[in-house]
Amino acid sequence: MNGNSIYPARNRSKRLFSEQDISLDAFKKLCSQETSSETYPLASSIEKNVPIYDLSKYALNTSASTISELQDEWYEILSTGPGVLILKGMYDVSIYGDVLDSTTSTFQRIIDHERLSPGVKKGDHFANSGANDRIWNSFSKHALADPESFVKYYDNPWLAHICEAWLGPAYRVTAQVNIVKPGGAPQQSHRDYHLGFQSGESCSRYPQNIQVASQLLTLQGAVAHTDMPFDSGPTRLLPFSQQFEPGFLAYRLPEFQAYFLSQWVTVSLNRGDGVFFNPALFHAAGENKTTDINRTANLLQISSAFGKPMESINTIPIVARCWDLLAAKYKDDGGLSLSLTYLIQTIADGYPFPTDLDHRPPAPSGMAPESEQEIIIRGLKDHWTRDQVVSELQTMKAGWEYPPLTG
Ligand SMILES: [Fe+2]
Repeated sequence: MNGNSIYPARNRSKRLFSEQDISLDAFKKLCSQETSSETYPLASSIEKNVPIYDLSKYALNTSASTISELQDEWYEILSTGPGVLILKGMYDVSIYGDVLDSTTSTFQRIIDHERLSPGVKKGDHFANSGANDRIWNSFSKHALADPESFVKYYDNPWLAHICEAWLGPAYRVTAQVNIVKPGGAPQQSHRDYHLGFQSGESCSRYPQNIQVASQLLTLQGAVAHTDMPFDSGPTRLLPFSQQFEPGFLAYRLPEFQAYFLSQWVTVSLNRGDGVFFNPALFHAAGENKTTDINRTANLLQISSAFGKPMESINTIPIVARCWDLLAAKYKDDGGLSLSLTYLIQTIADGYPFPTDLDHRPPAPSGMAPESEQEIIIRGLKDHWTRDQVVSELQTMKAGWEYPPLTG
């Protein structure tokens, strides 16, 4: 192996991270780096190691060469730099003030509507149901409820520029609104989608290269819809923590949680500011100590085009055709044998995303809903008929019919 491997240096005989890899001292060393303004000359300032770009000084028709220079800096920040940046004035209120107002009031209409809609249960990854206001898939709901503000909100060139800087020209935007009310508790530090939303046991089964690669497939961001002064609890950040390769396992450990609590920084935001970070950055929503600010963010999660297979496979007709054989094998093998497990791993998706989070909400006790494979295994154990398993899979896939927004 020459010295120019694209893969991080590591012991090739070990495929999975082990306990010895998860060194708090190594983590502390990474997180004690400092961000130099010389490294990021286009940043307006560096605050607590977080580069801040004042976009209000750039015209909306800024030249392609200047955009490219900004993107080079953003790319470096997100990969080998501090892992997080602020786009101040991303939604410049002198241009987007009305759009932000209309969008925020549309979010409130959606929240009120869902509160009154029977059968809507709001799960949350990190808060008890009802403690915060949450809109899953605010992207689609915004478009359906108020297309006028939606098209003005999402034609923002800075959103395209930051997405392209990290993911290239093909990507998919999703969004979720989070409103943390006065008194709202802080989150525990964590990493984000993909592996941040797996259980520790599941995460530990992914090899080292996938642990590193997964963070390259997503860009995490948020647009502030209210001012977020320090007391309102803007996101707590640990710059450089995305560089710690076993971090998807480490963030769950008490000593890493404690280190985060002693070291986190935060940057106050104004309405219309954007914050973007590598999904492997250790972070947590802060505590809202105000009495009067409903801290409101539209969380943006942007996915690379590349996490997809080349052909579409529809599991349901395959399972329908093979169900009797699967059930017979379950019986003959005396239960869920290894060979039956391998077969199910081939036939069905083992990963439950993307999904309809209204229909299949996560909850603090479990961060991911059931996968196709888990449904099939449940069906075999409970001796379902072919019609039953097909019906369960169809229900899972169908998505939930969102009640029409009136008024
Ligand atoms: Fe998060």
